[in-house]
Amino acid sequence: MVERKPIIVGNWKMYKTISETRTTLSALRAAVQDVDSVEIGIAPPFTSLAAAAEVLSGSNISLAAQNMHYGDAGAFTGEVSAPMLLDAGVTHAILGHSERREYFGETDDLIASKVKAALENGIVPILCVGETQVQREADETVSVVTGQLSGALSELRGADLGTLVVAYEPIWAIGTGLTATPEQAQQVHEIIRDFIGDLLGGVVAERLRIQYGGSVKPDNAAELLAQLDIDGALVGGASLDSESLSAIVHAA
Ligand code: PGA
Repeated sequence: MVERKPIIVGNWKMYKTISETRTTLSALRAAVQDVDSVEIGIAPPFTSLAAAAEVLSGSNISLAAQNMHYGDAGAFTGEVSAPMLLDAGVTHAILGHSERREYFGETDDLIASKVKAALENGIVPILCVGETQVQREADETVSVVTGQLSGALSELRGADLGTLVVAYEPIWAIGTGLTATPEQAQQVHEIIRDFIGDLLGGVVAERLRIQYGGSVKPDNAAELLAQLDIDGALVGGASLDSESLSAIVHAA
């Protein structure tokens, strides 16, 4: 069996000023400095990337973007490209987060272009998928999640996908305090891995890291991360505090 290194990424969303970024990341850096069995990342707002890169320089914490444009440069007001992110020290990008899909109209086609651009530029894409409460109750979880995966990966072949990370984030669990049970999450993670296997081959699927996201906290992280197909966590609220994120990293 392939060893998959767990990956914990903090998604700060639209929180923290530059000075708050410095304070939180200095504390986090110290709290996780001994960890080498877990890949750790932080996605601050764009305005904090430069400060974060400075504080995290030479550490075991990677810098992630919360979004990215698919082009390298151009007349796209308000957007940031992969080469710009690389220049700022970014190595990972969260793509297709449910908040981007819901509030900013991101479609599977757009997300597919972003995933492709990230891979071409050597940025690790963290592709988010997940169903709403209504979809879960209508028994549509599997069709929604596999539809999002095939939509976002349509332009790629297995060989291109080396570094891809998938984050399964049931929308009803994001920021609500409701977490999927470890069994509920594992069930969907296994379906995702099987689906990727059918789409892109067994080797890609075995290597693929699948994060769970949605109200991950220090007290539920260990149980979730113990599941066979859960290879990490994408953490929103609990990542804003260095102690709670460090506790989640140590649980992994
Ligand atoms: P949450 O957010 O941990 O606050 O639920 C997760 C996410 O949106 O990535």
